Amino acid sequence: MSDVTAYLAAEGFEADLRTELGDVLAEHGRLMLAPGPARQTAWAQNIWRQPQRLEVASIGEAAKALRALQRNWWPYEFHLHRRTALLVDKLPKVSAKPLVFGQPAPTAPLGSFVWLDESTVLAAPDCSSAFPNGDAAFIEDHQAPPARAYLKLWEALTLAGNLPKPGELCLDLGASPGGWTWVLAGTGARVISIDKAPLAPAIAALPNVEYRQGSAFGLEPEAVGPVDWLCSDVICYPERLLRLVERWLSSGLARNLICTLKFQGETDFATARKFAGIPGSRLLHLSHNKHELTWMRLATP
Ligand SMILES: C[S@@+](CC[C@H](N)C(=O)[O-])C[C@H]1O[C@@H](n2cnc3c(N)ncnc32)[C@H](O)[C@@H]1O
Repeated sequence: MSDVTAYLAAEGFEADLRTELGDVLAEHGRLMLAPGPARQTAWAQNIWRQPQRLEVASIGEAAKALRALQRNWWPYEFHLHRRTALLVDKLPKVSAKPLVFGQPAPTAPLGSFVWLDESTVLAAPDCSSAFPNGDAAFIEDHQAPPARAYLKLWEALTLAGNLPKPGELCLDLGASPGGWTWVLAGTGARVISIDKAPLAPAIAALPNVEYRQGSAFGLEPEAVGPVDWLCSDVICYPERLLRLVERWLSSGLARNLICTLKFQGETDFATARKFAGIPGSRLLHLSHNKHELTWMRLATP
């Protein structure tokens, strides 16, 4: 299929991806085909570059055709479940164990395939995510973090391929009850946590955490000084977050920024595009995001 790209929508956000792409040619479950080379899209969890249509007479023939392209394949299935399982059985085993946080993201190329019908497979050896269907799974901690939001920061830092270092300074905006603060403090970095609401007592008691009660928006970058990581999970309209981020960027005082854009009701595509347009940054829907996007701008090592 020359000059077509396949985009796998984040689950539940098919309409957002459809709007973002604007020119979808065909849909197969959550997988959308659109013309042209791969584009930067926030709502696609995995992008299949140059997908190929394989016409096959049998499952064995499909396996042979896939193996001839490369070793590692992951299925996307939205129908034909038995046929998918039978094809998976004929392919080399791919282990997709949940990550322990701190381990690097997988780097081995992972192709994706889907049965379009009983005799047609769509396959792409080259995909944007090395996680199966873009899903980053972790061995979770059900005890220490006071909220599940920590998984977003685990995923963002894993994709960033970089963690705060001991002694670095992190500013955590909208920190309560403290999941992100727990992640940041766990790296050995120092954390200043800002929220109108309090941190969970166990998080506030961590020796490298300083809690300041107040609004993230009343905080002047110059009053804080240089920070290595500026993190925000504040609930606010994306436009308001954009103004806050612009203030920090123009101050030059934040080296790495990771922020959640939260949508209330309709998705604010116009503001999302402004975030995506900030040089050197990326905007993506993490597998642990809800009706949210994560924006990151990381210092070059
Ligand atoms: C989704 S929660 C953050 C969860 C947190 N990242 C965690 O892992 O536990 C959003 C937080 O934004 C806070 N918030 C809302 N408006 C704020 C503001 N103007 N300044 C600081 N925090 C604010 C709320 O109090 C709430 O605790």
